Amino acid sequence: MPRLPDAFATLLGHSPEGVWSAPGRVNLIGEHTDYNGGLALPIALPHRTRCAASPRDDDLLRIHSLQDDSSVEVLIDDVADGHPAGWTAYVAGVVWALRRAGYAVRGLDVVVDGRVPLGAGLSSSAALECSVAAAVSDLFGLGLLGFPEGRDVLAAACQRAENDIAGAPTGGMDQAAAMHCTERHALRLDCRDGTHEQVPFDLSAHDAVLLVTDTRASHALADGQYGARRAACEQAAEILGVETLREVVGQPLDETLARLPDDVLRRRTRHVVTEIERVDEVVGLLREGDLAGVGRTFVASHESLRDDYEVSCTELDLVVDTALAHGALGSRMTGGGFGGSAISLVPTAEVDRVSEAIEAAFADARLTAPSSFAVTAAGPAARD
Ligand code: GLA
Repeated sequence: MPRLPDAFATLLGHSPEGVWSAPGRVNLIGEHTDYNGGLALPIALPHRTRCAASPRDDDLLRIHSLQDDSSVEVLIDDVADGHPAGWTAYVAGVVWALRRAGYAVRGLDVVVDGRVPLGAGLSSSAALECSVAAAVSDLFGLGLLGFPEGRDVLAAACQRAENDIAGAPTGGMDQAAAMHCTERHALRLDCRDGTHEQVPFDLSAHDAVLLVTDTRASHALADGQYGARRAACEQAAEILGVETLREVVGQPLDETLARLPDDVLRRRTRHVVTEIERVDEVVGLLREGDLAGVGRTFVASHESLRDDYEVSCTELDLVVDTALAHGALGSRMTGGGFGGSAISLVPTAEVDRVSEAIEAAFADARLTAPSSFAVTAAGPAARD
């Protein structure tokens, strides 16, 4: 594959002004809490999406990718819900959202090189959005990359692109992770007020690794299941008379649940409340260096997502059960669920044994071969 700037020159007939990139993420814990005003704890992955770009003095967006032959030309003012369709919505949507937020942005020539596995629940879409947002900020002199509140503005525009143009009703965790995560740290993200805090996360000091397993089971957030979970949470909050389920964290859980009319709403609410509590539990355990405790909390999170929130699937459960049976300290699905990836906390000496056991279990079950790889906490969106 040619170097990205060379590919840009071939496709668009001139050199790019620069290259920007942003990471995918895994969430350590705090799943399906972001749209409930809750807490999450993502790390940025070493896998990044890069985009080469240059500004135009008209309103045309010319969008190409090294991974996909389809390319799109669209005027910023023609960008709308579902238009353009497919992956280019994430690019065009960001420019559209920044203009809607009042920034003087113009057209763009852009070529994307996405190295975050697609459809794996590792936020390839947020990586794409945030790399483009970083490019737009620099190319049109917005200066938003240089300070945390500016990065919040970019993350919000990226979320808007995803919600309003790509049609995925996601919360803001993935974009916040891509904009704010730093190397060797997890990001404790408070989605009620948008504040965040860096929590040291360097497993090498503990002879352990974080193993990501992409189950290769299909995963799509724009389909109905994610939206249905979100709607159930909103319904429960309305019945409880609160703005978000975050407001009932810390109240006696049994009493809260008794005020809900049916079992499904009770289980959805129990997941959200206990999951928000687990985030600070894990932050405390990480600070104490208690990895066995972190592992146990991962398992509690997975069980809650599987049984109460019902967003796991056969493949994710198989990774978790197999990892735990072969020496992992903890394991859980990560991201939206219904496929995608799981993470396992594994003593370094056991990593090969765990990944081989997962591979064998998938082969035995005649499932598509999964892909497992160790990750460390990487850095945020930046100019390369
Ligand atoms: C997806 C969404 C996030 C978040 C997670 C679940 O990754 O994009 O906003 O809701 O699912 O924690």
